[in-house]
Amino acid sequence: MWLILALACNRGPQEPDRIEPIAEPSGPVDNGSATQRKAEGSAIVSAELATKALGNTMKERVSAAMREGGPLAAIPACQSDAATLTAAAGSNDVRVGRSSAKLRNPDNAGPEWVQDWLQDNQDKRFDHVTGTSDIVDGEARLIRPIQVEPGCLGCHGTHIDQATQTALTAAYPQDRATGYAAGDLRGAVWAIARVQAAE
Ligand code: HEC
Repeated sequence: MWLILALACNRGPQEPDRIEPIAEPSGPVDNGSATQRKAEGSAIVSAELATKALGNTMKERVSAAMREGGPLAAIPACQSDAATLTAAAGSNDVRVGRSSAKLRNPDNAGPEWVQDWLQDNQDKRFDHVTGTSDIVDGEARLIRPIQVEPGCLGCHGTHIDQATQTALTAAYPQDRATGYAAGDLRGAVWAIARVQAAE
């Protein structure tokens, strides 16, 4: 007890005036692990921001194109913009993407841990799934579920108009991303952010 009080007295004046717990389940408190936890926390925040940026920009872009010309006119926009927006939402230390258990574009498959999550959750409704955030091998890995909304059905639903369907099939011969209903789980936005080494 005296030892702990003595250590507490050695702290700088800016430190909070309280005694740290004697030990954590994982071992004694030390500055190294505190720095590590901070680095992991900020990697998770970076990953979180990237998933939000991608989710928002894609949704805005698709709705704007739909308003201008309906689903048929919006397909080329989705096709050419998706890759660009996906790259822009990431950075050197963050990678981000959209994936699904029923892909339209096979290039969107994403990392294996994302595919595993999608397989495990593919039969569930959006309301019954939760995202994940983990630190694995020095990376923050994040998954945020994507919901099918009424505005998605023109290109991902059960009654797709003939001209749109023809255009989709021409551009995506392996398309599996139709037959959804509002409230279904469409897939996930994922992100990986490298945990910066402690200084
Ligand atoms: C105008 C038609 C259109 C609309 C509306 C649309 N999408 Fe898509 N969606 C596409 C196309 C085209 C792709 C393939 C893009 C690519 O090549 O990466 C795609 C791909 C995706 C992907 C990436 C995984 C995959 O299957 O390749 C997700 C996730 C997705 N859409 C979700 C949605 C959601 C959620 C909505 C509604 C908010 C929506 N889409 C509305 C046409 C559309």
